[in-house]
Amino acid sequence: MDLKGKVCLITGAAQGIGKSFAETLLGLGAKVVLLDVNESEGEACKESLDKTFDANSSLFIKCDVGSEEQLSCAFKRTINHFGRLDIMCNNAGINNEKNWEMTMNINLISVIRGTYLALDYMNKAKGGNGGVIVNTASLAGLEMR
Ligand SMILES: NC(=O)c1ccc[n+]([C@@H]2O[C@H](COP(=O)([O-])OP(=O)(O)OC[C@H]3O[C@@H](n4cnc5c(N)ncnc54)[C@H](O)[C@@H]3O)[C@@H](O)[C@H]2O)c1
Repeated sequence: MDLKGKVCLITGAAQGIGKSFAETLLGLGAKVVLLDVNESEGEACKESLDKTFDANSSLFIKCDVGSEEQLSCAFKRTINHFGRLDIMCNNAGINNEKNWEMTMNINLISVIRGTYLALDYMNKAKGGNGGVIVNTASLAGLEMR
């Protein structure tokens, strides 16, 4: 896939694997929308990316992916800002066994919601250009204990 000019939305992009996705995609000529619930880390991430890449190639949006309204709004802002969406990375995740309801909401429900929203915007039958959806998972999902 030629990534030049393609627009990628990445959840949990302020640090870790999400930030690495952003660096790699920007390096290959894509534009990235960085979503994260942590506003200060998200802004710091955007600032650090701007030192290497064109500042106009990325956009940070504070977004709690557990909120249907905030996630939906982030997609609308992505289209308003960059005019298209080509790659969706459902990457935000937490590891909180005690608060299992929140964990299920972030790690599962928001991934399904993000996938359906991405389909709405990328589906050729709905005026999109097609695209790719990447859901970050864990090897733990393949282990039997
Ligand atoms: N690092 C690993 O070894 C590992 C192993 C298995 C799976 N994973 C998965 O990979 C993904 C990224 O992991 P990482 O190690 O980079 O994690 P990380 O904790 O370094 O980064 C996760 C990012 O997601 C953000 N986030 C958390 N809740 C959010 C929410 N509700 N809305 C928006 N953003 C939110 C955090 O603020 C953070 O910036 C996660 O889904 C994680 O479960 C990681």
